[in-house]
Amino acid sequence: MRKINIFDTTLRDGEQSAGINLNHSEKMEVARQLERLGVDIIEAGFPASSKGDFRAVKEIADTIRNCSVTGLSRSNMKDIDISWEALKDGAEPRLHLFIATSPIHMQYKLKMTPEQVLQTAVDSVKYAAQKFPIIQFSAEDATRSDLPFLAQVVKAVIDAGATVINIPDTVGYTTPKEYGQIFTYLKENVPNIGKAILSTHCHDDLGMAVANSLSAVEHGAGQVECTINGIGERAGNAALEEIGVALHIRNDFYQAKTGLNLQQIKKTSTLVSKLTGVIVPPNKAVIGKNAFAHESGIHQDGILKEKSTYEIISPELVGVASNDMVLGKHSGRHAFRNRMEELGYTLTTEEINNLFVAFKELADKKKEITDDDLLSLLFEEKLGS
Ligand code: KIV
Ligand code: ZN
Repeated sequence: MRKINIFDTTLRDGEQSAGINLNHSEKMEVARQLERLGVDIIEAGFPASSKGDFRAVKEIADTIRNCSVTGLSRSNMKDIDISWEALKDGAEPRLHLFIATSPIHMQYKLKMTPEQVLQTAVDSVKYAAQKFPIIQFSAEDATRSDLPFLAQVVKAVIDAGATVINIPDTVGYTTPKEYGQIFTYLKENVPNIGKAILSTHCHDDLGMAVANSLSAVEHGAGQVECTINGIGERAGNAALEEIGVALHIRNDFYQAKTGLNLQQIKKTSTLVSKLTGVIVPPNKAVIGKNAFAHESGIHQDGILKEKSTYEIISPELVGVASNDMVLGKHSGRHAFRNRMEELGYTLTTEEINNLFVAFKELADKKKEITDDDLLSLLFEEKLGS
């Protein structure tokens, strides 16, 4: 079975969403949770964009040992040098270089000719390769690019040293069939394509980011770029939890697996929602409050007879406790500790005592305390300390 690398960009493209602004300790907390989730690559920010981003990328690269940490860089020497300073002490330093290849972006945004874009891409990959062991190159707005030109750029940057080639659907414009055809075209028309891993990066403007990403996997992508809860520019990026669970549940179809620890999904989603303030809609696949709730009598009857009648994902798979014991103001410390353990947290007596006080205060105001409430209390306690 093929291994698909999960490249999480919650802290870069996700943090680019309107209204989201994580502080330094919040970014560190998200990075540590992404490491527990088992993502392969964390895109921690855009080092040249601000001092805050530089500091976050550097500290995440210096701290996280079980993921490769990367940062975004425009195709120029100054950005590359700043990124190197931020990433050089990481477990596996990797640079994410990009330049746009579509006629619209080249003409209006970059004001460059295709020849100049090609030369800039090659020069910057060669320059970066003197420092970085791994270079990913992204052809921004690839899905609105002229395919022969895209193929020419991809071939040239692989020759220059790029080993990961990302084909972003920057404006969420493509469709699953068309996107798959772009991957097939590149495989058939770029002679050195076998030297690189192909990557997918989809935005959700037409609501097809996850479907498009999975189509790319079907057509040869070995890396998927995504964000927790699908946050990101405009309508967001492909949602990591949907990709991870779809590849797991339908591995009969995709014949591919990830290294994700799926039981950390709910916890990661709750953390990101809490820190960013972006609420997860109740009907959101995998992580929504209603994703495992069965309301109609016919469905409840079916579930009681045999779960698989209406349940294709078990809540436990993604770390949602199946136990339906309700915690409230009458619950004791024992039940509270048990539920924390079910959620994956073994806490010290002192931590339990502190949290229990906060829990009782909340229970006085709210009839039922949900797992999300408990995780929020926990994260507040940990971040506050
Ligand atoms: O959407 C996009 O094209 C990007 C690139 C910088 C990879 O985020
Ligand atoms: Zn993007």
